[in-house]
Amino acid sequence: MDKFVIHGGKPLFGEVTISGAKNAAVAIIPAAVMVDGVCRIENIPMVSDVVIQLEILRELGCGVRLLDKNTVEIDSRALRASSAVSDLNRKMRASYYLIGAFLGRFRKAEVAMPGGCNFGGVRPIDQHMKGFEALGAKMDIRNGIVYADASEGLHGTNIYLDVASVGATVNIMLAACLAEGQTIIENCAKEPHIVDLANFLNSMGADIMGAGTDVIKIRGVSELVGGFYSIIPDQIEAGTYMAAVAAAGGSVLVKNVIPKHMDCITAKLAEMGCEICEEDDNIRVTRSGDIHKIQVKTMYYPGFPTDMQPQLAAALCLAQGTSVVTEGVWENRFRYSDELRRMGARIQVDGKVAVIEGVDKLTGAPVRASDLRAGAALVIAGLAAEGTTEIEEIAYIERGYEDIIEKLTALGADIARVHFDDAPAVAKAN
Ligand code: EPU
Repeated sequence: MDKFVIHGGKPLFGEVTISGAKNAAVAIIPAAVMVDGVCRIENIPMVSDVVIQLEILRELGCGVRLLDKNTVEIDSRALRASSAVSDLNRKMRASYYLIGAFLGRFRKAEVAMPGGCNFGGVRPIDQHMKGFEALGAKMDIRNGIVYADASEGLHGTNIYLDVASVGATVNIMLAACLAEGQTIIENCAKEPHIVDLANFLNSMGADIMGAGTDVIKIRGVSELVGGFYSIIPDQIEAGTYMAAVAAAGGSVLVKNVIPKHMDCITAKLAEMGCEICEEDDNIRVTRSGDIHKIQVKTMYYPGFPTDMQPQLAAALCLAQGTSVVTEGVWENRFRYSDELRRMGARIQVDGKVAVIEGVDKLTGAPVRASDLRAGAALVIAGLAAEGTTEIEEIAYIERGYEDIIEKLTALGADIARVHFDDAPAVAKAN
């Protein structure tokens, strides 16, 4: 097993280039199975979730060719299978986008129930099921497999989502773009990756309007054809490096971002006392003095993203005063707080609210990531802390951050990936 070892307390200086958006890539890759042609997708982040998804497509019989590190060509012309039930599918959440994609292309689907990051709460798929049923599919879940059958037709309709779910919006959009007639999804998700998926599908011949607003209109087309597409930069990866500067100090030019997507994050960092300077597709973040307490509540886009909540909380551990962080999307996304307490943080969690009393310093400790963004929060805390932090369960972190060691090292951090066969350090410390 490997762990990250960080010798903290060094401010970050330099430039970091942001990779393509993971949550856009994991929607666009399964969408490529709907295309009766060849898709060339650029700016794909080579993180483990993406690698698994490409492997799933290979298993299904798609041609998958890496043209360079971040460009992939997917050829789904020979694809006949509408069944994805191997163990690989259970390894990541977004494999369930194959349900919408298969339904669109083949009018039937058999897909293993998703795995993915566990925040300690339920991750229901009722809105996906409701959407597919409204389109005319018969849905069933047996032995951990979702079965969808629309052999009698897939017909456009109006679907009102009870929650603005990213996953349900993606899945319904996929099926609807090859359904007959018009589908309207109301109260849909508006995240940047929803817009990116719609742009990808439109560039392959779909007819989708309104992505990025509460209402998406999809006129079904008879087929999608091949083409080129380049994925947007990752809003959350960019926010994570900015939060790292807020915690550890320094000044970093975060390159290849869409500043508009970053507004919800930069507004909070500015409120904390960081200097933010936007220039075209770059943002410079500087922390020279103390950072201050804030109140923040996570919400659907354009609110403050839940996927940045742990990273911001890690920085707030070092703010002057007491901050209040409220989680508005997931049931339980504060599991990392126990780990931060091991490093000297003062955090009290009550249900969906964390109260963080800022301390003058954090100290390195052996800690363990419990999910992707929890892991990112521990990296940030480790960079800012005095002494050595060892982070276990780094596979979670590698699901979503491309070249994190190289990128942080280039900013002056002392971080390494170290192999260990020994009993885990966290267990030894307990
Ligand atoms: N929900 C339902 N029913 C459903 C679906 C969702 O009640 O059928 C609820 C969930 O329980 C949750 C809320 O709706 O309370 C939002 O869930 P959503 O479906 O939007 O989340 P998701 O699609 O499973 C994506 C991202 C997550 C991110 C959330 C929220 C991907 C692959 N994952 O998950 O990203 O936290 O949207 O923005 O796009 C991450 O990148 O670390 C990550 C976990």
